[in-house]
Order: sequence, then structure tokens, then C-alpha cells
Amino acid sequence: MDWGLKNRLAQIIKPQNNRALMLAVDHGYFLGPTEKLENPKKVIAPLLKHCDSLMLTRGVQRTSVDANTDTPMVLRVSGGSSIIGDDLSQEDITVSIQDAIRLNASALAMSIFVGSKYEYQTIVNLGKLVSEAEQYGIPVLAVTAVGKELGKDARYLSLACRVAAEQGAHIVKTYYCENFEKVVQSCPVPIIVAGGKKIPERDAMQLTYNAIKGGAVGVDMGRNIWQSEHPVAMIKAVKAIVHQNYNVDQAYKMYQKLVAEESKRTPKSKGNKPNQKKSKKQNNQKKQNNQNKPQQKKSKKQNNQKKSNKQNKPNQNNPKQNKPNQNNSNKPNPAKK
Ligand code: R5P
Repeated sequence: MDWGLKNRLAQIIKPQNNRALMLAVDHGYFLGPTEKLENPKKVIAPLLKHCDSLMLTRGVQRTSVDANTDTPMVLRVSGGSSIIGDDLSQEDITVSIQDAIRLNASALAMSIFVGSKYEYQTIVNLGKLVSEAEQYGIPVLAVTAVGKELGKDARYLSLACRVAAEQGAHIVKTYYCENFEKVVQSCPVPIIVAGGKKIPERDAMQLTYNAIKGGAVGVDMGRNIWQSEHPVAMIKAVKAIVHQNYNVDQAYKMYQKLVAEESKRTPKSKGNKPNQKKSKKQNNQKKQNNQNKPQQKKSKKQNNQKKSNKQNKPNQNNPKQNKPNQNNSNKPNPAKK
């Protein structure tokens, strides 16, 4: 293997333990402003130093990542469809190798859609990309994307991963599934597992643990990190599973501890901000209500009613007369006992 290719791969899969923690933030390339990734710059900044590599598009890299970082970039170079379009599998290569080099990409990533309408196009593109990238010593990560109509079982994923590896992909990204070991065993290159949709933190840790146990080199996780209420705590816990062989209990305890420390550190004024905003809203609502004349009239009426009630109040000095008033409607009536 060429020195440059080997060196770039080592930036992504750490040679010390053959493990990898990739943070995925490329979702916008077909989903647009994904929930909690609306502002990539804000999301990426606190997480960047905790991942081994960052998977993203060139647009986000240029606009939202500090160029002084030493975190390696895994650049997505495929695209062409969006979630509201006709067919997500209709992807092509959208970034030139020259631009990838300008961006100092440590690896290139693209999706293949095995079993979909555009299977041929995406698989041929993968072969071409590998040929081109290898000229410059850049590894290629193939993403085995799954369409709505395709399953995510070991049989299908084994097929998709193997097809990607046969085209020369240096790493394959796929999903965790039952009998995942079979997927790993039949794929001659390292497999990294995608996190998938947001699930409870502990479950995402379990997924990470299972993936590693099943033979994956690590995870390429996105939503389960930055859609968490505590992204930094979450990435640290996932990292501990990937790199320190933590089990799920240990990682989850670590997460809880970090969350507790985080909430202690958070200044009260900051934490109260959402409430302050809420109460402003409430105040406005109140003002609006006060401007509402019929309600004022109603409350005058109510006041008159109150006055007349007061006037009808029995003499407090007369215990017999007091009895009915002491009967709060919510209290059980002793007379009924
Ligand atoms: C899809 O948009 C990308 O390939 C993501 O990088 C991949 O799905 C991993 O992100 P997540 O953990 O959110 O599934």
C-alpha cells in the first residue's frame, strides 16, 4: 500500500487499536437543515476534538470548521438528490479530486445504492472514484445507503458491503444488524457502523458496543450524538466504548456523571434563559388578554359578584352561620358522613 494511503487510513482508523470514531455531520447534503444540525458550526465546534475524524461535505467544511484543526476530514463527494426529490439513489460524484486535495481530505466518501434504481450508476462511480483517489493516495469510504424499500438485514448488508469492497473501497460504512458478524466476515475491508436515527443514549451505546463486538472498527455516528441533549457527554461515552473497551454500563455511568457535572457548571442565568423567554411570551399574552374588553367587563361582573358574596357573608361571630362557608367544595362534607 502506498505510504500516503496508509498514512491517511491511519488517521481515520487508529493503528494502536484498529478502532475509529467518526463524527458524521454530512446529513444536510440531502436532508437540508436536519434537526439540531441547523447550525453546523455551533454543533461541530465543541465535538471536533473528541472524534478521530469528521465526515462532512465541502460546503460545511469551508464554512463551519476551523481550518486550524488537526482532526482529519472525511469528505463526502457524492450527492445530487434530496429528500423531497423522486429518488434518493440518483447520486453522482459532485466534488473533483483537485478540490478534495485542496480541502486536505484524509478520505473521500460516497454512497452506493445496491438494489435500487440507480445501483449501476453508483457502483460504477465508486470504482471510478477509487481509481482516481488512489492516484493521490487518498482512501475511499463507501457508504452502503439503504433505500426505503430495501431491508437492513445481514443478507442484504453483506451483499452491499462486499460489492463496495470488490470495487476497491478501503472502508465500508454500513448498519448494525442481527448476525452482524456475517457481514463483517464476508467483507475484506474494515467496516464502520452508522448510528442511524436518534434512539435513547444508552441504546446508542449498546449499538456501539455490539458493533465493536461484532467486528466493526468503530462507528460513524451523527444524530445519536448531536441530537442528544448532551452531545459532548455522549461523544465522550461513545469514545470510551470504541477506544477504551468500556462496556455499556461503564459508558452510561460516565455519561451520567458528565451530564451532572455539566449541569453544575452551567450558570443559573444561562439555564434560566428559556424560562425567561417563556415568561416574556406569557407576559405578552397577559397584556393581550388585558386588552380584551369583554374579559374586563366579565371581571367587573365577577368583582360585583365577589362584593355581594362578601355582603352575604354570615356573621363570623356566629359559629352556626359560619358552618356553611367553612364547607370548601373540595372538602368532604362532614354532614354526609
Ligand atoms: C447520511 O446522511 C450519512 O451518511 C451519515 O453520515 C450517516 O447516516 C451516519 O449518521 P447517523 O449516525 O446520523 O446515521
